[in-house]
Amino acid sequence: MSMKDSNNRFGWLTITNHWLTAALILLMLVVGFYMADLPRGPDKLQMIGVHKSIGITILLLVILRIFWRAVNPMPVLLGAPPRWRHRLARTVQFSLIALILLMPLSGWIMSSAGGHPFSFFGLFTLPPLVGKSKALGEAFHEIHELLAFAIIAVLTVHVLAALRHAFLDRDATLLRMLGRPGRD
Ligand code: HEM
Repeated sequence: MSMKDSNNRFGWLTITNHWLTAALILLMLVVGFYMADLPRGPDKLQMIGVHKSIGITILLLVILRIFWRAVNPMPVLLGAPPRWRHRLARTVQFSLIALILLMPLSGWIMSSAGGHPFSFFGLFTLPPLVGKSKALGEAFHEIHELLAFAIIAVLTVHVLAALRHAFLDRDATLLRMLGRPGRD
């Protein structure tokens, strides 16, 4: 399989990035809501540390994805959908990328405003994005939580659309993101 995407196929770089990001986002949503309810203590602190490092990994993956899309064509939608479905599909995909970009940035700003420097898997410390501010920290905690709900909503539409392609339209949309040639 080629590394690059073409007009009707995804290459292995996009496919790996897509499924790795999907798995990490699901993990982060579950862990995020779980740790938010934990009482303050060493367990919570340790979990927040890992959460931050995985969040930065997602940020790197989405930046790579945006760069990759800028230098690679996006494969065309299969089955010649009507204009409104074409627009809806692209709007959902764009919103998802925007949310996945904003989610880790909001966490990083929250952490910086709280005055909590953090390291990326113990390798190096990330610089603060903003100065210490209790009000900003609290605002970005709210934003971070709201973005999580927005991701869940848009992700649900995205998954339902993929299932519709696979089981109702019976085209190769889902299969080609699994690296299979499909029926189209
Ligand atoms: C795509 C990436 C991310 C996802 C999906 C995610 C998801 C979540 C979720 C669902 C929560 C619980 C919200 C709540 O109910 O209060 C949370 C909390 C939190 N996240 Fe993230 N997060 C991501 C990235 C980050 C990053 C990069 C950082 C910091 C660098 C971060 C720092 C935090 C902190 C400090 C909390 C609050 C924990 C607490 O005090 O209870 N997150 N995250």
